[in-house]
Parts: sequence; C-alpha cells; structure tokens
Amino acid sequence: MGYVAIIPAAGLGKRMGYDYNKIFIQINDIAIIQMTVRQFENDGSCDAIYLAARKDELDSMRRLFSDSPKVKGIYEGGKERQDSIYNVLKQIPPCDHVLIHDGARPFVSQDILFELYQNVKHKGAVICGVNVIDTIKKVEDGKVSETIPREELFVVHTPQAFSYDLIMQAYEAAEKNDLKVTDDSSMVEALGKEVHVVTSNYDNIKITTMEDLIMAESIIKRVADQHV
Ligand code: CTP
Ligand code: MG
Repeated sequence: MGYVAIIPAAGLGKRMGYDYNKIFIQINDIAIIQMTVRQFENDGSCDAIYLAARKDELDSMRRLFSDSPKVKGIYEGGKERQDSIYNVLKQIPPCDHVLIHDGARPFVSQDILFELYQNVKHKGAVICGVNVIDTIKKVEDGKVSETIPREELFVVHTPQAFSYDLIMQAYEAAEKNDLKVTDDSSMVEALGKEVHVVTSNYDNIKITTMEDLIMAESIIKRVADQHV
C-alpha cells in the first residue's frame, strides 16, 4: 500500500491573464497539468491520483487522462482551492496517506515525494518548503515594525502529506468553524497538531504569472541539457 495523490486543478488562473485555465497551457506540447500528474505516475509509491477540475472542464480533463492507469477519478472543484480539495476528499475511498499537490506545480521531484511519504508514515503531517532568500520585514502604516530572522522563515510548497484520518478531521473542523486558509497544513495546525517540515527545492515553483512560464521553460531546458 502506497499513498493517494489529490491534485486540485479547478482554478481560473486569473493572474496568468489567459482566457483559459493556466493548467492547460502547453510547454513543448505537454499541458502543465499533464507534467504534474506525470511526476506522480512515475512514483512507485503513488497508488492512485484524484483530480479536481472546473465543471466545464471535466470532460476535457477526463479525455486528457483517459489512458492514465493511476488517475482513478476526476471530480468537480469548488469556489476556492480548499473547496475543491474537500470535494475530492469526500468522494475518494478511505486510504492511509494522502499527498495534496497543486496542479500548477509541475516540477515536484521524485526526491521530495520520497521524503514526504517516508516521513508521513510515522509523523502524520509533513509539509515541504525552502528557506526564504530575501530579508522579510513586517510593515505597519508604512513603517517597519519587525525584522523576522530569516533562518526561521520558510516558503511553503506542495505536496503536503497527511494521514487520511487527520486531514479528514482537519477539513471537517475547518468547515464547522468556517476557517478559510490558503494551505492544507493551516487546518491541521488549527487542530493543535504538529506539522513536520522537509526540504523542497527552488525548482518546485507554482506557475502563477507569465514570468513563471519563462522560468518553467528555463527549468525544462536545464533538465534536458543535463540529460544529453
Ligand atoms: N484551484 C482549485 N480550485 C479553485 C482554485 C484553485 O482546484 N477554486 C487549484 C488551481 O487549479 C491550482 C492550485 O489550486 O492548481 C493553486 O491555486 P492557484 O495557483 O491560485 O491557481 P488559480 O486559482 O487557478 O490562479 P489564480 O489565483 O491566479 O486565479
Ligand atoms: Mg487562486
């Protein structure tokens, strides 16, 4: 028994500024969402992949993955990322561990998947991130109120890995308490549970704006050059 991947892909991609969902943008003839799903297909520990898609994109998403042996279900997303993931969680069969990963992060490495899965088996909640590069200051009314020591700060990525029971409990509590969050870990933190952190890498970007597309092309080129 391995883990189950949940991949939300039901956003609008507004900040990208295209007239269609950014996860369908193709780089070298492969859509971003296909690159993301491929990373999980290539991981022997991943047993099944479930996706959230926009209602009007359900058919095109199902066509895209009709030949994928691991994509076991594609469900309708919701208004926010959190709603999309909860909708998937409620429909999949119970399992041991889930890795929740943004559809818009196509460069998650096999190393990160391995680290998360090995750790979540014993720890229940494990996220990944990288050290902050810039100095971060808290600013209030146009004046610095605090400089936060950089070594204490992490930029958080996905995947985030949880035991199934814990993440279900966290989502149920968030719904009951009307808690709105931008990552899954926050809901587990709100339960007072420990969340462990492993190191991600700087290639594991979320493709959000046009600049990220340029970065994505350069990552693909660098990886291709390394393999010739
Ligand atoms: N997502 C989702 N359901 C939503 C909103 C977002 O499944 N209602 C997914 C996106 O498809 C993406 C991931 O969550 O894979 C991270 O969200 P983000 O990068 O913010 O994507 P979008 O919401 O599509 O972009 P934007 O905020 O610019 O509109
Ligand atoms: Mg968004």
